[in-house]
Amino acid sequence: MANLINILDLSVEEIDRLMDLADDIMADPEKYNESCKHKILATLFFEPSTRTRLSFESAMLSLGGEVLGFSEAASSSSAKGESVADTITVVSGYSDIIAMRHPKEGAPVIGAEHALVPIINAGDGGHYHPTQTLADLLTIRHELGRMSGLKIGVCGDLKFGRTVHSLIEAMSRYDDNEFYLISPEELKLPGFVKNEYIIDKNIPYKETGSLEDCIGELDILYMTRVQRERFFNEEDYLRLRDCFILTEEKMKDAREDMIVMHPLPRVNEIQTAVDKDKRACYFKQTVYGKYMRMALILKLLEVEV
Ligand code: NCD
Repeated sequence: MANLINILDLSVEEIDRLMDLADDIMADPEKYNESCKHKILATLFFEPSTRTRLSFESAMLSLGGEVLGFSEAASSSSAKGESVADTITVVSGYSDIIAMRHPKEGAPVIGAEHALVPIINAGDGGHYHPTQTLADLLTIRHELGRMSGLKIGVCGDLKFGRTVHSLIEAMSRYDDNEFYLISPEELKLPGFVKNEYIIDKNIPYKETGSLEDCIGELDILYMTRVQRERFFNEEDYLRLRDCFILTEEKMKDAREDMIVMHPLPRVNEIQTAVDKDKRACYFKQTVYGKYMRMALILKLLEVEV
């Protein structure tokens, strides 16, 4: 049985096929609107979410399926001390596929060991977020028309930002990409991503604390939120939270064909004035995310349309 725990669980070819399928769903949604009839998706969210959970649910409903689940740990038996393993074992009996988000890194691996149905990692702590990456990849393919030869700036909280970790892993498999790692010293990209997916693969990269210095070179600027919930103390968060703010002024130095991405939610790191800039793609990303999740559900449930 296939699961999606890490973006590398899918080959580049499989991702290409998922993107083709998402494009086909977008072009002709009616063709798919009964393809998961009588199938049930469980969304088990032990951590807050708006887009990821609702886009999974919207995806399953648009495939004609049903959804159940919980949106906070407090309303599940984990509040009574139940283990992830037990919760997953039980929910496996009530559903055909499970999307789970958990604050502990690796929780979906435990889930997958106990599940009788496919498990999708919808974000595990400061680790990975593969379905956000699926949304990001389709955005890049649509907006830039290519996946290689790109100068990719990731900016903000590279330490705890799980979307960045999965995106770097995914983009490191395409040719001639370069990374600009833009963060404060305390929030630099961790070794488990940098060593294996950048240094060991001889991918060119720069580490910098200045967005101004490199914004003019980028094809993609991927902004991120400083992940308050993963900080050990509030003081550090308050000191670092506004480390990078993308403004209209800074956008003047960016290339005309650069795209701005952000997994959302945004707090302060992109001024709302930037939203009307034609290079701002973060709301489009949310739409692509739904179609990629539809494609993923079809693949994991082995539904042929
Ligand atoms: C991200 C996440 O949960 O990691 N949000 C999302 O799923 N789109 C980013 C974030 O919370 O900052």
